[in-house]
Amino acid sequence: MTPPNPVLDFTPEIERETRDLYQRVRHVIPDVEWPVHAPLISAINRRKRERKAIILVHNYMTPEIFHGVADYSGDSLGLAQFGERTTAETIVMCGVHFMAETAKILSPDKTVLLPDLKAGCSLASSITAADVRALRQRHPGVPVVTYVNTSADVKAESDICCTSANAVQVVESLGADEVIFIPDQFLGKYVAGKTSVRLILWAGACEVHERFSGQELRDFRGMHPGIHVMAHPECPPDVLAEADFVGSTSAMIGHVGKLRPQKVAMITECSMAGNVAVEFPEIEFIQPCNLCPHMQRITLPKILRCLETLSPAIDVPPDVAQRARQALERMLAVGRGAARD
Ligand code: 13P
Ligand code: SF4
Repeated sequence: MTPPNPVLDFTPEIERETRDLYQRVRHVIPDVEWPVHAPLISAINRRKRERKAIILVHNYMTPEIFHGVADYSGDSLGLAQFGERTTAETIVMCGVHFMAETAKILSPDKTVLLPDLKAGCSLASSITAADVRALRQRHPGVPVVTYVNTSADVKAESDICCTSANAVQVVESLGADEVIFIPDQFLGKYVAGKTSVRLILWAGACEVHERFSGQELRDFRGMHPGIHVMAHPECPPDVLAEADFVGSTSAMIGHVGKLRPQKVAMITECSMAGNVAVEFPEIEFIQPCNLCPHMQRITLPKILRCLETLSPAIDVPPDVAQRARQALERMLAVGRGAARD
């Protein structure tokens, strides 16, 4: 078992060093917590420079990680794009296993670290490579579009990947009448409503988003008249039908920045609202608190340990990585094509 990090002191130097940061985040991080977070943030940022590493942070990380140690933060698509571009030799992925695996597949020569290997995803564990092969047998010739929330083995059996930010665009890029869309049935239903392509779906679901209901959103509206409600497309259809805006985590953040509503509910993992509230202190965020137990495994002490020991590192067998890379690169090329149009 890895020994815990020693307790770090909140010295006057660290208090001075982190004062400006604390002023920014103080309305989302209680005073009593800062003396615990600040020495860890300081030690992580120092170690990161020594190691010439970069820290990529998903939008669902808690605010002390999101605002304290990130070199880049974003949704799954943004993390994949940034991971591919960076020249840093070491990447620490503050997110879940499939995100770290994606970074490793796109940059096989880099060291990719994940602070807790048990940070999984209910969607990724809902389907195996053998399931994909069976689907292909049942639907010969039909291309497979795979949400990035899957293992490298599953990506390796796929024609192309997608994220919640580009799923419709990716499905339409194939020019097919029908596609196999795996594994999120709710994202699949959402995409099916936006395109004339027929989708063959898998019964996977996100354990965080499937718990929301349309009634919950109607209750929010009743309690907070005028509230702007946004939802992630991993939510069930009755939730999406009640939402004012549907988009990936970064799309929701961008939308709040543009619209600046007085009151907002983000129907997604709960930590994200705290991260966004730091940027927009004038907006009231009503937080439906569904936490992702996998994302919550990533903590400041584990990030520090990971930089100190350069482990745990992600490894993907070369033959799997090579096939999975093709599916990911095809997805990234769709984005680049759209950017040129
Ligand atoms: P995004 O790509 O929208 O950030 O979503 C990732 C995820 O895991 C949502 O639950
Ligand atoms: Fe997976 Fe859902 Fe957690 Fe995202 S929020 S990592 S989809 S379980």
